[in-house]
Amino acid sequence: MAARNKIALIGAGQIGGTMALLCLQRQLGDVVLVDIMEGVAKGKALDLQETRGVLKADASVSGGGVADYTVIKDADVCIVTAGVPRKPGMSRDDLLKVNLEAITRVATGIKQHAPNAFVIVVTNPLDSMVYAMYKVTGFARNKVVGMAGVLDTARFQYFVGDAAGVAPQDVNALVLGGHGDDMVPLLRYSSINGAPLTKFLDRAKLDAIVERTRKGGGEIVALLGTGSAFYAPAISAVTMAESYLNDSKRVLPCSCLLDGQYGVSGLFVGVPAVIGKAGVERIVEVDLDDAERAMLARSVESVRKSVAETNL
Ligand code: NAI
Ligand code: 2OP
Repeated sequence: MAARNKIALIGAGQIGGTMALLCLQRQLGDVVLVDIMEGVAKGKALDLQETRGVLKADASVSGGGVADYTVIKDADVCIVTAGVPRKPGMSRDDLLKVNLEAITRVATGIKQHAPNAFVIVVTNPLDSMVYAMYKVTGFARNKVVGMAGVLDTARFQYFVGDAAGVAPQDVNALVLGGHGDDMVPLLRYSSINGAPLTKFLDRAKLDAIVERTRKGGGEIVALLGTGSAFYAPAISAVTMAESYLNDSKRVLPCSCLLDGQYGVSGLFVGVPAVIGKAGVERIVEVDLDDAERAMLARSVESVRKSVAETNL
């Protein structure tokens, strides 16, 4: 019998706990939750173990603290949410200093104990935290990736579907750029199962949806009052892990280290990528017009500034 995959979820908070449940339900592999709050990781793991009889799940969930990183030994995938989420009024970049410290520690643990893992970073500010993960681990560029585009695209799909009165799953969309308020939803490359969006919604409504997508994270932060979105972020990151583990070669928008694509080098920026057993197997480049290029340049500039603050 083939060995089960091992998935390390580092950060056992709102997103980490939700991802653990999703991994169990989807039978993706054995899950290890790790958190600075050891009791939280162990408590959630025990709670999830107690679902297995009902779920009929073979895979198991265990938990541990950061004092013993050996629990992630030889994990196939590490998904990192360690750090703190936004409070109302905070931007993602306000989190940089405190989360950089967490990412540096986590990266050191991953490098030592799971050197062959595919690493998916979720912690904000996303594009600079995934850069820090890449720098500290020294892993190959195809093995370190950030989750944001799947979530941003999913938000856009939902808003378009809701406004047009169609199923969000029939909305095909593409959001490029950094995970900030200047991300670039590409209307020209979006459709409702091939039919142009303009057949369903006028330009003013579409522009409002683009703006709502850009501020989608903040909208939920303001509603929750404490913490940020976690269900859609969790399913987005697990979808990326699943594509890697099952070699599905899904084309997913992810924050990838660019090497000249879209005219950018040395930064992690959200672009469509093929995710398969080699990790980021290919970056897909689409042609941009002048206005789209200008929007992407603005977004890349924000990423560049955030990365500069890491001093890495
Ligand atoms: P949370 O606060 O519920 O969970 C974070 C967990 O990390 C906590 O349990 C905390 O104890 C733990 N932690 C802190 N430092 C640690 C360390 N050094 N090692 C291990 N664990 C550590 O937060 P939530 O809602 O799960 O969000 C996690 C991160 O994801 C935040 O930075 C948030 O801004 C970000 N996020 C990113 C999104 C994206 O699209 N990339 C979407 C939504 C949230
Ligand atoms: C989100 O987009 C806050 O980055 C987080 O929900």
